[in-house]
Amino acid sequence: MREQLEQLKRDALQAIGEATGEDGLQDIRVKFLGRKGQLTALMKGLGGLAPDERPVVGQLVNSVRDEIETSLEAALLSAREQATIERLKSERIDVTLPGRRDICGTKHPITLVTEEVCDIFASLGFSVAEGPEIEHDWYNFEALNFPPEHPARDMQDTFFVDNNLLLRTHTSPVQIRTMLKQRPPVRIIAPGTVYRCDSDATHSPMFHQIEGLMVDKGVTFGDLKGILTIFTNQLFGQKTGVRLRPSFFPFTEPSAEVDIACVICNGKGCRVCKNSGWLEILGAGMVDPEVYRHVNYDAEDISGFAFGMGIERIAMLKYGIGDMRLLFENDVRFLRQF
Ligand code: PHE
Repeated sequence: MREQLEQLKRDALQAIGEATGEDGLQDIRVKFLGRKGQLTALMKGLGGLAPDERPVVGQLVNSVRDEIETSLEAALLSAREQATIERLKSERIDVTLPGRRDICGTKHPITLVTEEVCDIFASLGFSVAEGPEIEHDWYNFEALNFPPEHPARDMQDTFFVDNNLLLRTHTSPVQIRTMLKQRPPVRIIAPGTVYRCDSDATHSPMFHQIEGLMVDKGVTFGDLKGILTIFTNQLFGQKTGVRLRPSFFPFTEPSAEVDIACVICNGKGCRVCKNSGWLEILGAGMVDPEVYRHVNYDAEDISGFAFGMGIERIAMLKYGIGDMRLLFENDVRFLRQF
């Protein structure tokens, strides 16, 4: 029995020495000291011993148990310490690692162009004006000298809300709203969303325009050409060629379309400019006296010019975007490039 006890002690101490981690040590405790463990099993043999041997072996049992217990406690303590060290190691934060960057949005090309155009005109003394997107027929057409049934209304495929209300087809009604509120001199730039029932690779039913209006004593067609040349030079570069072609708008007379030398082929002729070497970027003209009559301005006393441009078209030319629909799909892979 002594032999068995000694063997049990050796086995237990060896197992403790080889155990890894707290769980392993708890298993050893159960295996050797537990209620159904090996030491308990041995103690059952005590009854079969001679009476004078019992106390001696009993003491031995106790000392074996104590030794195993002490060694277990020590091993448990160091296992816990080790676990804490491992945990601290794995939780350590390396402050020298580069941080994670937040994904940051970018401005939409339409916004970028709008801001740039407004900045250029602000530097020329123009201030920003705005008007509603749901507009009265009177501001959108009538006051701009499109009489009812006038064929020029067909140029603009209008979305009607009812007989009198519509989604504005251009930013020109802001001219009227401004002149009704304010006496000359007027110098405004009016960016905004406009709507036309039209949709393909170069047309969207919702798009953006910027309107300009300058009215004062003695404003001439030369001022129109000068201001718009300064503008196109700033937006597309100093050497960009500019030309004016005669055109027609009901609210300007004379009217012109402004072209710039093709930014893709530099005037040589390419697919984008349809081999003409020129790109139309805005409509303009001297404000028609009929418009002044609607806003109670005296056409004998003052004169002025107006112009309007499509932002999408300018953004496409400036950034070399081939399909207008890209501007409205809001694919971040596209938008992140600006
Ligand atoms: N409103 C016109 C259009 O949408 C553009 C324009 C504005 C023309 C101002 C002349 C003067 O086509």
